[in-house]
Amino acid sequence: MKAVTWQGARSVSVEEVPDPVLQQPTDAIIKVTTTNICGSDLHLYEPLAAFMGKGDVLGHETMGVVQEVGSECGDLAVGDRVSIPFQISCGRCWMCERQLYTQCETTQVRDQGTGAALFGFSKLYGEVPGGQAEYLRVPQAQFTHVKLPDGPPDDRFAYLSDILPTAWQGVVYAGVPDGGTLVVLGLGPVGDFACRIGRQMGYRVIGVDRVADRLERVRAQGIEVVDLEEHGSGLGDAVRDLTGGRGPDSVLDCVGMEAHDSPVTTLVQKAVGLLPGALARPVQEKAGVDRLGALYSAIDMVRRGGTISLTGVYGGVADPMPMLTLFDKQIQLRMGQCNVKRWIDDIMPLLGDDDPLGCDTFATHRLPLDQAPEAYRAFQEKTGGHIKIQLKP
Ligand SMILES: NC(=O)c1ccc[n+]([C@@H]2O[C@H](COP(=O)([O-])OP(=O)(O)OC[C@H]3O[C@@H](n4cnc5c(N)ncnc54)[C@H](O)[C@@H]3O)[C@@H](O)[C@H]2O)c1
Ligand SMILES: [Zn+2]
Ligand SMILES: [Zn+2]
Repeated sequence: MKAVTWQGARSVSVEEVPDPVLQQPTDAIIKVTTTNICGSDLHLYEPLAAFMGKGDVLGHETMGVVQEVGSECGDLAVGDRVSIPFQISCGRCWMCERQLYTQCETTQVRDQGTGAALFGFSKLYGEVPGGQAEYLRVPQAQFTHVKLPDGPPDDRFAYLSDILPTAWQGVVYAGVPDGGTLVVLGLGPVGDFACRIGRQMGYRVIGVDRVADRLERVRAQGIEVVDLEEHGSGLGDAVRDLTGGRGPDSVLDCVGMEAHDSPVTTLVQKAVGLLPGALARPVQEKAGVDRLGALYSAIDMVRRGGTISLTGVYGGVADPMPMLTLFDKQIQLRMGQCNVKRWIDDIMPLLGDDDPLGCDTFATHRLPLDQAPEAYRAFQEKTGGHIKIQLKP
């Protein structure tokens, strides 16, 4: 089959690889109909390159039709239309019973000290082949799927595997009080959905980014936006001016390691990304490659006693956290990978034909798998209006 493979820092290619086969009775094989490129794939594309293997199949936002099932896949059947959550979880361990699916004790990647295995997500998360391919093997398939109705277009459900529940969890973790104000930092696909969800939940929402077409897209939804480019280090004051001088109740960081305002760490990140894997790994674990610009601005702008929710992925440990400020301001901080299936029942009612979250028109690009290399480049450079890219195998 054809698959999008990682070949090196800033290099992906479409290759012929062996078709996946059932390996366990709990495996299923999915024929992929739609798979997206995610902001998290950009971390693998460059900053986390040290943890990738040449030839790894990328992709963790997959939907399709069940092609084959093992003997222990529960009620999953050939022909079912499904979305595949980005994390692989068993549904019956101690963590899964508590709906902490990203911590599943059956699939935890213990030799790396990380949580549940993820599709297409480096050695840190089990190096499981991903879904940017014609077919996907789904381990723990008895639980790692969401059944979808036939009828509506793929677009309606294409974001259930990751960014829609991720944005939802981010907003819930932000703990916005009734009638309160939520600032969303970063208006990539995750931040964009978070703005729409926050408004749907009845909050005042203010979105922040620096990329003109991303700001415009959110503004077109009738949501207030602030351009980071206009305010720079005065962003906190600009947001306080809009929120009675006190600051917002809650800030949701949807930026993560892509923060664009710390040239020194950018350089380290680049250098580490380009070292050969075995050399770069220890450097990266010790030195950390975080660019914490967005997090610092969240700590600055949130009101005293407010909540910060982190959705953007941070790696590395060296960047000092401003503990004094966090403590003095009595800030609550919540974060983590999204426990996808925890939120599906809440989200499904919003995926009807009236489409209040605008899923049907959310993608900016729908491309054949072959165009993945150019699509990755364009998405990283953020110059061609590539906000959400679907690949159609
Ligand atoms: N927690 C999870 O389970 C989960 C799941 C999916 C994605 N993510 C993470 O969420 C983050 C966002 O994903 P995405 O696909 O929307 O990514 P993206 O890279 O498309 O969007 C990030 C946006 O942040 C903006 N930005 C950069 N620096 C900023 C700053 N200092 N202040 C405000 N905005 C800034 C960029 O211009 C960009 O538009 C990534 O870190 C991704 O890894 C987490
Ligand atoms: Zn994703
Ligand atoms: Zn489990």
